[in-house]
Amino acid sequence: MSARDAVAVASETHREGQGVAFKLWLAQLQEQVELALSHLVSAEAPGGLGAAMRYAVLDGGKRLRPALVMGTFDAFAHELDLRDLALRSACAVEVIHSYSLVHDDMPCMDDDVLRRGKPTVHVKFGEAQALLAGDALQALAFELIAPDIEVSQSRASHAQARLCAVLARASGHAGMAGGQAIDLASVGARLSEVQLQHMHALKTGALLAASVAMGAVCAEASAEQRASLDRYGQALGLAFQVVDDILDVTADSAVLGKTAGKDAAQDKPTYVSVLGMDAARARAKQLHEEALDALAQAKAAHPQRLIDIADWVIGRTF
Ligand code: IPE
Ligand code: IPE
Ligand code: MG
Ligand code: MG
Ligand code: MG
Repeated sequence: MSARDAVAVASETHREGQGVAFKLWLAQLQEQVELALSHLVSAEAPGGLGAAMRYAVLDGGKRLRPALVMGTFDAFAHELDLRDLALRSACAVEVIHSYSLVHDDMPCMDDDVLRRGKPTVHVKFGEAQALLAGDALQALAFELIAPDIEVSQSRASHAQARLCAVLARASGHAGMAGGQAIDLASVGARLSEVQLQHMHALKTGALLAASVAMGAVCAEASAEQRASLDRYGQALGLAFQVVDDILDVTADSAVLGKTAGKDAAQDKPTYVSVLGMDAARARAKQLHEEALDALAQAKAAHPQRLIDIADWVIGRTF
């Protein structure tokens, strides 16, 4: 074997090793998040609400947002004392995301019957219960990260106040809810690429960028590092929704765990309908590169998990 071939083999082996290490890390994280959520989302809520909340949150989902929180935390943190808070943040953002899916699927929004491979919450529990489960999950997310008044001067409390602000902004009118409103108002409309990007950045990008930002708050990253990470999170968040639009066309429902072909059926503007499939794929690739460039500028001590997550987002099949 030539020296050049040996280098190629070594680098391929290294990449495969990284791939295995990431899969292991992700599987452990998914398990940890499932366990934590199972403790945090109580079955005790009255009137059957607990069952609907747990159904919405547990047993399903890729847990990408928790992976971004913990991947960012692990990229910086040398002191582990805020790790529990990072895990609670990871759960909080997943709880907001799960609530957004419950409402997204309701008849007044996308009217979907399949989510995470199971009947949607309103199909299983009725519309009123689905609405309330979403409401209750949103409140619960903030309860999970709100500062404890007894220890309000501590480092953790300071971080918690910031976490609440980051999550609130990304969830509300300037983030997910605002983006969902644009989505509904855009049915049948011809959006420009700039308008489409704005909609996607809000409805999906904001929560993904917030996941990175929350990990950075818990890791006490510097302001400069947080600015670079914001750019990583925003580029990755947008890339994620571009890929979601592509998969809606190319994947099938059994693999996706949700109904494929919905966007065209409902005449929603997407990266595929606005740019075409090839340009949508090229845009996803470009955003992936932008994300990695921004990450490099953050100069994190251990960026590998965030690199792996970016690769996962682009290469995913569901
Ligand atoms: C689906 O998000 C909804 C969008 C924001 C496009 P995910 O693809 O992360 O859904 P789960 O959590 O894995 O089910
Ligand atoms: C939803 O976007 C984004 C949310 C805020 C939930 P989509 O409507 O494209 O998500 P899917 O395809 O139903 O998961
Ligand atoms: Mg939708
Ligand atoms: Mg939908
Ligand atoms: Mg979609």
